[in-house]
Amino acid sequence: MSMPHRAARTLSLLLAAALASCSGRTTQAGTSNLFPAGWPYSATATPVTATHGMVVTTDELASQVGVDILKAGGNAVDAAVAVQFALAVVDPEAGNIGGGGFMVVRLADGTSAALDFREKAPLAATANMYLDAKGNVTDKSLVGDLAAGVPGSVMGMWEAHKRFGSLPWARLLQPAINLAANGFPVRPRFLKSLDSRMVQKLSADPASAAQFLPRNGQPPQQGDTLHQPDLAATLRLIQKEGPDGFYKGRTADLIVAEMKRGHGIITQQDLDQYQALWRDPIRFTYRGDTIISMPPSSSGGVTMAEIANILSRYQLDSMPWHGAEMIHLYAEAFKRAYADRNYYLADPAFVKMPIERLTSMAYADQRAADIQMDKATPSSEIKPGAGPLQEGTNTTHYSIVDSAGDAVAVTTTLNSLYGCGVTVAGAGFVLNNEMDDFTSKPGTPNQYGLVQGKANAIAPGKRMLSAMTPTVVVGPAGKLQMVTGTPGGSTIITTVFQTISNVLDYHMNVVQAVDAPRVHHQDLPDQIFYEHQGLDSATVAQLQQMGYKMVERRGVSGDVQMIVVQPDGTLSAWSDPRRGGRAIGY
Ligand code: GLY
Repeated sequence: MSMPHRAARTLSLLLAAALASCSGRTTQAGTSNLFPAGWPYSATATPVTATHGMVVTTDELASQVGVDILKAGGNAVDAAVAVQFALAVVDPEAGNIGGGGFMVVRLADGTSAALDFREKAPLAATANMYLDAKGNVTDKSLVGDLAAGVPGSVMGMWEAHKRFGSLPWARLLQPAINLAANGFPVRPRFLKSLDSRMVQKLSADPASAAQFLPRNGQPPQQGDTLHQPDLAATLRLIQKEGPDGFYKGRTADLIVAEMKRGHGIITQQDLDQYQALWRDPIRFTYRGDTIISMPPSSSGGVTMAEIANILSRYQLDSMPWHGAEMIHLYAEAFKRAYADRNYYLADPAFVKMPIERLTSMAYADQRAADIQMDKATPSSEIKPGAGPLQEGTNTTHYSIVDSAGDAVAVTTTLNSLYGCGVTVAGAGFVLNNEMDDFTSKPGTPNQYGLVQGKANAIAPGKRMLSAMTPTVVVGPAGKLQMVTGTPGGSTIITTVFQTISNVLDYHMNVVQAVDAPRVHHQDLPDQIFYEHQGLDSATVAQLQQMGYKMVERRGVSGDVQMIVVQPDGTLSAWSDPRRGGRAIGY
């Protein structure tokens, strides 16, 4: 329900008066003091703009690969396939062929599709496989071969190409093969990923150490060239044989041999049975725009829809951006939506979910009914709201728009940095540790602190629930408005929502929307996380008075890769400076 807030409205009007026009929406260009003092990222940097196509990824080499494909006549899906393989080479801590992910496609003709290439639990997986004899959760869902789900990325790229691709498959693999075989200068981002903790993790696996710690067990140094000949050989097989180059033959044999060596449970039968699935995207309306996002087995679209539906009852633009009132409403919406996410959502092949209900406005009305404007609702009082369940960091994102206006958003992951830490010897790629995204034990937090329920329990062949939220936003006339997404584990959904809300509610341009400090609440633990120096102390104090536990997070929160389309059709893009990627257009 919208409410009058006179003081807030006055402030908002003052802010609006300072706005300049840049995107056709009123924007805040020039408001260098938009962010709190000390916040390290800019509100005034110039976005990357282009008129034909745009590729935004976590690495400039991968972005260049995508743009080259677009320039060669490929479409956005062709570019996405080439980028996925290139990221597996140049961003091996998160880019992958040994993991999985989700793709949202929205073509200029209005067609939209969602591709689920999430990993699956091996057939030998059991509900209690990560518990010790006393029933306590072990670290085996995180480290070592037993943590790996059956990889989905190669099959995902194959399916995407089969349905939407235009250039030959082999052409899309070639840039990645060149980068792996000829080597590339190591990037600061890659070097940063190899901190002492990661060196310890990778040192435990001889193939990982050989590939990523080439200086006598230590990371490469700035100026070194990283060659990955085993990975190049695997990519050549995939180039020649399609998914059979990964799920059968030499690569499959090497995966199964690795499982035997490292006591993992993925078998040839698991690899034979892996399928990537086309699903109907989640679609909902927010401030008149249509948001197209990922359905389960990702929780991203459903959870974001519930958040957006709750918040659309409030006139956020009448409240100062990042004032206590606005953050309070964000937090109240986030925790209700996460309470439902953590209880209801899972692999649709295994669990019947009340998705229509959770994404309806009527449900948002019910959920928002007990939000009080002056105080936090404790998480202990927030129960899943849609009745009983019916039985039944590290990730990477890229956003692409081509010259026809087709858009692709992909979020893909190994889960933790370098997944389970195991490189398939002879095949040169890292295996995920996605099994930790399942509920190892109901009520016990996973690595993201998410406390999930039995809907997401481990079962053979099941997909573990994800938070990945690749998203496309379309205006009322069907015109593409935004392509966005981020890594960040459980914070992915709230981060993606905030980038969209920054544009739709607060009329920020793409730089501001991405660079702006973010907050997060996931129901449990019952606290608002905020980025270091991301909130001023008065706002923190106000929120504390309202009953919130405020926790300042020093680590990086998200890594958004975002494209916003201007009214004149110009593509305006920004890669999150928190970790450093690159937008390249032409
Ligand atoms: N591995 C993080 C996610 O899928 O949500």
